[in-house]
Amino acid sequence: MENFKTVILAAGAGTRMKSNKAKVLHKVAGKTFLEHVIDSVKGSGSDEIAVIIGHQKDEVKKLLNPNIRTFVQDELLGTGHAVLQAQEFLDDNSVILILNGDAPLTSPETIKSIFQEHLNSGNAVTVLTAELKNPTGYGRIIKEDNELVKIVEEKDASPEEKLIQEVNSGVYCFNGDILKKSLKKIKPENNSKEYYLTDTIKIIKDLGLKVGTLKVDDADEIAAINSRKQLAEAAEIFKKRINLSLMDSGVTLIDPNNTYIDCTVQVGADTVIYPGVILEGSTIIGSDCQIGANSHIIDSDIADNVEIDNSTIKQSKIESGAVIGPYAYIRPDCYIGKKVKIGDFVEIKNSTIQQNTKIPHLIYVGDADIGENCNLGCGTICVNYNGKDKFRTTIEDDCFIGCNTNLVAPVTVKKGSFTAAGSTITEDVPEETFAIARAKQVNKEGYVNKLAYKN
Ligand code: UD1
Ligand code: CA
Repeated sequence: MENFKTVILAAGAGTRMKSNKAKVLHKVAGKTFLEHVIDSVKGSGSDEIAVIIGHQKDEVKKLLNPNIRTFVQDELLGTGHAVLQAQEFLDDNSVILILNGDAPLTSPETIKSIFQEHLNSGNAVTVLTAELKNPTGYGRIIKEDNELVKIVEEKDASPEEKLIQEVNSGVYCFNGDILKKSLKKIKPENNSKEYYLTDTIKIIKDLGLKVGTLKVDDADEIAAINSRKQLAEAAEIFKKRINLSLMDSGVTLIDPNNTYIDCTVQVGADTVIYPGVILEGSTIIGSDCQIGANSHIIDSDIADNVEIDNSTIKQSKIESGAVIGPYAYIRPDCYIGKKVKIGDFVEIKNSTIQQNTKIPHLIYVGDADIGENCNLGCGTICVNYNGKDKFRTTIEDDCFIGCNTNLVAPVTVKKGSFTAAGSTITEDVPEETFAIARAKQVNKEGYVNKLAYKN
């Protein structure tokens, strides 16, 4: 029995989360609980996976690769009943690995080790366990003469049993034929009136077959998420794991306790990350970058040698040598070229900015294409919206846009041109042209003495 197939239980509602969303769809460290479990299973080498779905089954199914099989549990009658829905998937001659969809911290290594232990021990079922300081809520591992005899759920446990600190992780390896046989024998005779998967242990033991446990040293590996409190605890564990691994790979974290990075993010060596930084989704950060305090970067691609301070960047690409912030907001679909400077209180949206251009302060660039070596003066605004439609602004290479210029789109400022401060540009500016579009100044000498406030 060398191959193993996996069943993941993900039909439950997750009542204790007090959420409108099925529990396994909640995210931690950038992935849903269920995606974490699936990725660990795949990482362990099992590629035949079935997921039991029920509550919000369509939403859960959407998350799954088409090569993952699903079985619907219409009535949520317990974990044993859940596995029964996948009967036709359970080969007699395979080892069946079962996991809960709400325990995202189990690593591929741990899954590999229970599979190995199962094969080496000759057990009919092997249960992954851990010793917890506070075992409340978990099924307790009942042993006699140091041998597993059964699992008792919290709700059914006697006061003495509740003192036991070794708990069931919800990860098991079963021999397929024996799993099927024992599932047929479980009855909902307990305080929850549910068909407990955990009851199979005693049934298998009573058949005279060998049952055993594998205890993991690191209790974090089995942490399940049933409540918002446990969600925060799991996030903390992920944070430690992710941040340690980044530091191992050469990234400096000034304060790893206050740096929040999804497990999906990549960061290059010699990048320095300051406290309060949040890096999310598919973000990739190059090497030798400085990511200043409180920066929030989502699904963005940041090249090498980029400096970002106190800024928010979403779904954008930033080329090497760019300097961003403090207090810049780069909204989705921006391309920021090499060595571009985006300064303080600048908002950029759906725009491309070519290399060496400077957009230093208090500027709105929306729906614009800006060439190389331009300088946008303080207060420049791309007037891109007329209340109904949006239009683009084009500024070609080597332009100088004076302070407080309104660029009323659609409009183009051609190569090498200059707009005077305070201009409202409504017509295209030809190449190498100085455009001035503001009322002429009139000086009325002595007039101040006639003003109302003077009398
Ligand atoms: C379960 C175990 C418990 C173990 C703990 C580890 C049982 C009876 N108890 O308890 O021994 O210590 O996990 O975290 O198995 N699910 C279904 N269909 C159902 C019920 C549940 O698919 O009808 C799924 C849930 O979506 C969840 C998983 O099974 O992903 C576990 O269910 P949950 O209700 O969280 O079980 P626990 O009470 O935590
Ligand atoms: Ca649970």
